[in-house]
Amino acid sequence: MAAVRAMIFAAIMVATLPASSSAASIVTFVFGDSLAEVGNNNFLRYSLARSDYPHYGIDFSGGKATGRFTNGRTIGDIISSDLGIPPPPPYLSLNGNVDAMIKGVNYASGGAGIRNDTGLYFVQRLTFDDQINCFLRTKEAIKARLGDEATNKLCNEATYFIGIGSNDYVNNFLQPFLAAGQQYTNDEFVDLLISTLDQQLSKLYQLGARKVVFHGLGPLGCIPSQRVKSRKGQCLKRVNEWVLEFNSAAQNLVTSLNNRFPNAKFTFADTYSDILELVDNPTAYGFKVSNTSCCNVAAIGGLCLPNSKLCSNRDEYVFWDAFHPSDKANQVLAEKLFHRLFSATATPAPAPAPAPKPH
Ligand SMILES: *[C@@H]1O[C@H](CO)[C@@H](O)[C@H](O)[C@H]1NC(C)=O
Ligand SMILES: *[C@@H]1O[C@H](CO)[C@@H](O)[C@H](O)[C@H]1NC(C)=O
Repeated sequence: MAAVRAMIFAAIMVATLPASSSAASIVTFVFGDSLAEVGNNNFLRYSLARSDYPHYGIDFSGGKATGRFTNGRTIGDIISSDLGIPPPPPYLSLNGNVDAMIKGVNYASGGAGIRNDTGLYFVQRLTFDDQINCFLRTKEAIKARLGDEATNKLCNEATYFIGIGSNDYVNNFLQPFLAAGQQYTNDEFVDLLISTLDQQLSKLYQLGARKVVFHGLGPLGCIPSQRVKSRKGQCLKRVNEWVLEFNSAAQNLVTSLNNRFPNAKFTFADTYSDILELVDNPTAYGFKVSNTSCCNVAAIGGLCLPNSKLCSNRDEYVFWDAFHPSDKANQVLAEKLFHRLFSATATPAPAPAPAPKPH
């Protein structure tokens, strides 16, 4: 299956890239939060947003906790495998290793948000602004080795996956003891997030990004950490409405970026309905439980601690801990996302539009 997909993708890439490019040169740069992290926070000594201890990784290759916030693979791991490439390594593990950087880098960091003040109680994390700065440093290191022209070409041809914004709600706006939830109405908060995101995505464009996939948010009102706030363990409708409002504004931003930068292709990847479908109809996908997590998490924190009790069959649960899908759920979600982004029948999302003609 993965091989077939890699071939379909390769065909699309070959059709849209100069003849010298090949599937072997697919480079991805990943930005985001704990849903995409592969271990940056392991290198942040004082970060409280970490998952480098059991039972995280119990179903990962080797059963090791790598800093991924799930029992097995992230959606990004599965997409990488579908593309026929290894998942890009965490930026903070690279120590200036240019040979590794030119194959792709993951900057994602648990607790990170669009806003600088999001997740501040995790003490250390790479905010989206920090991650963009790390990409700038990556580009400078590559430039010192390959020169301007080859570096710009590499940056233009790479695909940028960005999944950020969940923490701006879960670990900021929805926390009554933080300023944002008291200072702003939801409409004001969405405007603030989108204008910040606009600057951030424009900055990435200026740094050379031309094929950018922005992941919309999932139904955060249905994750276990939010459900426990309702009387009967139901999804929080109001939170889901706020998320939909953010997604719709982010989709408009993507349209606007495509108009402003016609030689780039920004894509909005909507996973909201896929996740809601898993939550509403778990049995249709082989799951049994979607209203609570496999790991019986601590009431405070919501992460799966070494002394937490696990469910007996991890494949039967949509959620691994109070925030993050299980490996099995990620598998289902990645399949759907990959199909949406890269299937032959869909518009090949990350292909750049032709350069604008002067007129
Ligand atoms: C976030 O912090 C960075 C520096 O760390 C700064 O350049 C940027 O302007 C800040 N962004 C906001 C929205 O405050
Ligand atoms: C989840 O749903 C099941 C069956 O519908 C119910 O028995 C259980 O109490 C629910 N659990 C929580 C934590 O809401």
